[in-house]
Amino acid sequence: MKILVTGCCGFIGANFVRHVLKVHPDWQISNIDVLTYAGNPETLRDLEGDPRYHFFKGDIVDPDAVRLAASLLPGGPDAVVNFAAESHVDNSIKNPGIFVKTNIQGTLTLLGFAKEKGIRYLQVSTDEVYGTLGATGLFTEETPLAPNSPYSASKTGADLLVRAWQETFGLDAVITRCSNNYGPYQYPEKLIPLAVTNLMEGKKIPVYGKGLNIRDWLHVEDHCSGILLALEKGQGGRVYNIGGSNEWCNIDIARELVKIMGLGEDRIEFVTDRLGHDLRYAIDATRIRTELGWTPKYTFSTGLPETVKWYQENEKWWKPLKLKVNSQHPSTKR
Ligand SMILES: NC(=O)c1ccc[n+]([C@@H]2O[C@H](COP(=O)([O-])OP(=O)(O)OC[C@H]3O[C@@H](n4cnc5c(N)ncnc54)[C@H](O)[C@@H]3O)[C@@H](O)[C@H]2O)c1
Repeated sequence: MKILVTGCCGFIGANFVRHVLKVHPDWQISNIDVLTYAGNPETLRDLEGDPRYHFFKGDIVDPDAVRLAASLLPGGPDAVVNFAAESHVDNSIKNPGIFVKTNIQGTLTLLGFAKEKGIRYLQVSTDEVYGTLGATGLFTEETPLAPNSPYSASKTGADLLVRAWQETFGLDAVITRCSNNYGPYQYPEKLIPLAVTNLMEGKKIPVYGKGLNIRDWLHVEDHCSGILLALEKGQGGRVYNIGGSNEWCNIDIARELVKIMGLGEDRIEFVTDRLGHDLRYAIDATRIRTELGWTPKYTFSTGLPETVKWYQENEKWWKPLKLKVNSQHPSTKR
């Protein structure tokens, strides 16, 4: 297969490229990425010159850029996978306009391209479109959409466009909605890489409020294997939740990280809570497990120490990015 994939200089897209080329060494990928602050060409630098991987610097909002990126694949792509997004909730509170532009208008452009070519479209979405949970319950694919942040509202808008293109134009579209990811190559503004790199720099881990917000954590490679399955075997028009049944509150993650790194809890500090901070997210992934046979490979007990080790061994990758992270607004969210 030849696939046009967007936003692969970011965290999950880059891991997806590596995953696909490992599982399907004969596939070809064209990556369109505009290289925002979160896009780092160094992440996939080692693939330069690999005939299976093409990079095009361009904006998914721009139909000409999307066409040019697609034209790097001989005969054009067989499918589009959309990772490109503004993804940081804190930024969406400060500057929502760019979230609407990239996440909604960019999706609109990509849907137009997939419709024109008559090819499959996969939208990488998030559990945040469901809003927040109380102490109990899980998000299923039938949970009503109730986004609370400008980020999640823009992702919901995109999901609804995908649905409309499927219903109105018969587009072969699939949506995946995943919980919080962790793993290598995550921008150090998000909780786990921020915490690990802060500890390495002799700083503290900033935890919002009392650290009681709960997230359901999944290793990025397990997310990528779920997306690939949905792309290859998912039913058109269907939504697939992806999650690891791995709920942790932020303070316990911070405690676990200081423990793994052999430090004390004095290296954790509480900071003013984020506006409208959702209390709890938790995914019911029964559909993708039973219909597509997806199973996660990692647990936190293997994935978290491995991830800490990756940041310890790859200071050269994160150090230049960390300089850009605004330390006045530390994030405890992904
Ligand atoms: N990180 C998570 O935990 C998580 C969980 C569930 C879903 N998601 C979704 O997965 C996707 C990828 O998330 P991520 O964490 O890798 O994000 P990221 O911020 O690390 O990467 C986003 C990438 O998109 C690129 N990009 C942004 N605007 C663009 C534009 N207009 N045109 C082209 N490229 C553009 C950036 O340069 C960057 O390389 C997003 O759609 C996000 O909503 C993320």
